Amino acid sequence: MKGIILAGGAGSRLYPLTLVASKQLQPVYDKPMVYYPLTTLIEGGVREFCLISTPHDLPRFRQLLGDGSAWGLQIEYREQSRPEGIAQAFRIADSFIGNDPVTLILGDNIFYGGDTFSRAFSDFSSGAVIFGYHVTDPERYGVVEFDAAGRAVSIEEKPKQPKSNYAVPGLYIYDNSIVALARDLKPSARGELEITDVNVEYLRRGSLRVYTLNRGFAWLDAGTSSSLHEASAYVQTIEKRQGIKIGCPEEAAFRRGFISLAQLTALVDKLPRCEYREYLANVVAEAQR
Ligand code: TTP
Repeated sequence: MKGIILAGGAGSRLYPLTLVASKQLQPVYDKPMVYYPLTTLIEGGVREFCLISTPHDLPRFRQLLGDGSAWGLQIEYREQSRPEGIAQAFRIADSFIGNDPVTLILGDNIFYGGDTFSRAFSDFSSGAVIFGYHVTDPERYGVVEFDAAGRAVSIEEKPKQPKSNYAVPGLYIYDNSIVALARDLKPSARGELEITDVNVEYLRRGSLRVYTLNRGFAWLDAGTSSSLHEASAYVQTIEKRQGIKIGCPEEAAFRRGFISLAQLTALVDKLPRCEYREYLANVVAEAQR
């Protein structure tokens, strides 16, 4: 399974923060935002990544993540010169996807809790998988409607009158037919290649599966100053209470077996003295016990 991290966009709602660094590079409590979606995909078993961002921001992402080899990953970078829709990512990354299935995650989506994603990744064989998350303001998102048997029957992008409270979060899994499907997609009235149109097409073909994310699951979107602050507060609360870190790619890569204990130890040795280093040193110490 290949992984795309889409981290472009204008970030206009976070202005002036986003004048010099893109939204997905902003701190969410103790680490850059993009660490969280990257970690979510590593936990799902993804090792090969394509990170897509604006020509302006791409060099900063390279500086932050490099080629991924230190964490047992491969990371490539591609430009999206204008934000012409989430589904444009599949056109930009088509040679990266090759003949494989692919998952796409938005660089500003933070997920925490439960094992629904790991189940979705390990059970995936064909078609498309998306998720449904109960929210108070579904009209801001793609909205999925279910029938009495819990099967998805419709998906609408930012509907004025939502047919349910289930919004579709920014993590999608597709088989390789996404490449051809994205190639044939037409821009919507707002001029974007819509991810909702992709999902509607899989639904029409009878090959869309929707998992609902349960009550204990957190989906945070950090697109406005308040939601960014709330996301930081949430991460801080969980991390302080549990003594674990959310969104720590080194730890996830180690637990997934992408790097050995010796490699993790070497990474820790290179870090400056800081709380992040202490945490990873503890992960090493616990693994040695
Ligand atoms: P949005 O939150 O819709 O847009 P934005 O990030 O540009 O923010 P603002 O509305 O404040 O200007 O996008 C959701 C995510 O998808 C975000 O991480 C950016 C990303 N995105 C792209 O990278 N390229 C695109 O073409 C689109 C539409 C979104």
